[in-house]
Amino acid sequence: MKSLIVFYTRSGTTKKAGEAISRVLECNIEEIVDTANRKGLFGWLRSGRDAMRKRMTTILPAKLNPADYDIVIMGTPNWGGLPAPAIRTYIEQNKSKFKKVAFFCTAGGSSFEKTFKELELIYGKPPQNVLGLRQEEVKRGDITEKINQFIAKLS
Ligand SMILES: Cc1cc2nc3c(=O)[nH]c(=O)nc-3n(C[C@H](O)[C@H](O)[C@H](O)COP(=O)(O)O)c2cc1C
Repeated sequence: MKSLIVFYTRSGTTKKAGEAISRVLECNIEEIVDTANRKGLFGWLRSGRDAMRKRMTTILPAKLNPADYDIVIMGTPNWGGLPAPAIRTYIEQNKSKFKKVAFFCTAGGSSFEKTFKELELIYGKPPQNVLGLRQEEVKRGDITEKINQFIAKLS
């Protein structure tokens, strides 16, 4: 199965998780870049507000075509129980090209359900599988078992 990992990260955690998944799958990986300034306290506040209002944002053009892949595995941080605007925008712009999808999410806490529900709503179809990872366990590098279980259910 030809897989593509696509992720957005503000502070590196979702990137680390995405890279770990791509190492296991030996697949391509693409980072989505949001052109909005999300740095610092003001950026943090703006990010939370934009996510909660379910806003789109401007992202740089993706380099890889999701239509070339059997499955696109997309990752986002949890922002107030919702996906980051960059991933919302990527899904909206590309969903007609997806064959199958799966989602992963990183969060400070351990609540992922609402974010996954929203991702499914944006895409309009259920994902093959979802993987929620706490920031702490990603930082520790303690996620191999969860990644293996996640991948095992992708068809
Ligand atoms: C604006 C904002 C809102 C957040 N809201 C939540 C939240 O509601 N629940 C939670 O568990 N973590 C929340 N977090 C923490 C992030 O989900 C967590 O740190 C994530 O792993 C960061 O991923 P990144 O390093 O890839 O950006 C929030 C972080 C930001 C910046």
